[in-house]
Amino acid sequence: PPSRANCSPPPPPPPQPTSQPAMQPDSASHRIARVAAHLSPSPRPQMEEGVRPAPCRAKGGAPGFKVAVLGAAGGIGQPLSLLMKLNPLVSVLHLYDVVNTPGVTADVSHMDTTAVVRGFLGPNQLEAALTGMDLVIIPAGLPRKPGMTRDDLFNKNAGIVRSLCEGVAKCCPNAIVNLISNPVNSTVPIAAEVFKKAGTYDPKRLLGVTTLDVARANTFVAEVLGIDPKDVNVPVVGGHAGVTILPLLSQVHPPCSFTPDEISYLTKRIQNGGTEVVEAKAGAGSATLSMAFAAAKFGDACLRAMRGDAGVVECSYVASAVTELPFFATKVRLGRAGAEEVLPLGPLNDFERAGLEMAKKELMESIQKGIDFMNK
Ligand code: LAC
Repeated sequence: PPSRANCSPPPPPPPQPTSQPAMQPDSASHRIARVAAHLSPSPRPQMEEGVRPAPCRAKGGAPGFKVAVLGAAGGIGQPLSLLMKLNPLVSVLHLYDVVNTPGVTADVSHMDTTAVVRGFLGPNQLEAALTGMDLVIIPAGLPRKPGMTRDDLFNKNAGIVRSLCEGVAKCCPNAIVNLISNPVNSTVPIAAEVFKKAGTYDPKRLLGVTTLDVARANTFVAEVLGIDPKDVNVPVVGGHAGVTILPLLSQVHPPCSFTPDEISYLTKRIQNGGTEVVEAKAGAGSATLSMAFAAAKFGDACLRAMRGDAGVVECSYVASAVTELPFFATKVRLGRAGAEEVLPLGPLNDFERAGLEMAKKELMESIQKGIDFMNK
């Protein structure tokens, strides 16, 4: 049979025009069936054969991972799907949402990059979307409007994250999860409780995405220093909301020093970066493009680490023993199994120590709120 886009072996390299005909004649009907199927997904589209429910990772040879985006038709999901379709480490890209997935899938699938794209629409297709996935990226949920905190989204998004994570526990318990849905400070603890209840919890595989805080910090610091943001690396620790976002300006790379005014300006701007976008969008939502960019960067770091690359270090909100809180964002070393090492905070100055106390107080409440939601 023509090879399906399955985990092992990864999809064949593009044909070499000089040595091979561009088309295999016997693959035409398969190709037509595949195109037709993803344009109008059926309850288990293209999943009847060749799909193993067991975890599936490319081993050896050319790497190719199966990645699902849950919430793929939303403001973050659409540009994130586009960026993941560009990623050469992705062999299969599953796009899931409760509305509009056929359109987004048809659209993204016309990009002539390697990943095979399949769309899944509505809760009946969640299991098919998740089966066999190596990495699941979750931006699903409602965005903020002006005047709202991320915590104001709790009531809607907590339930969404719970049901999506129940799907992950059932269909791809060994997948690495990148959680974006707000409030991240609470949704990561919710996901952990879901996985604990299902008996599938591995703290290394559950990662809250805080990369946008780092991207903003790098951008604003580069602006102050007058250098290229790509040359700047600011560790941002704590969580992903207001005062829980704690940029460690004393640990900026390249080493540099700031005036007290610069420290105050930068800290506030980094902590309010999300709100700056919410206000500028004036009711049309929150950061979607920069969030998708940051999530794609973080997803790529996870995939490179899963492939076996050494020295992949990113900030992420994970289960942690760095403070007395059960979850905390610091730099983590990513590996084949996810967050393989949670790195320490490093030396803090007095300003950062005071910020840490404020961050911990709010984080504690947000974490407890997530745990309570799952145990009520
Ligand atoms: C932000 C939202 C997406 O940081 O959490 O902009």
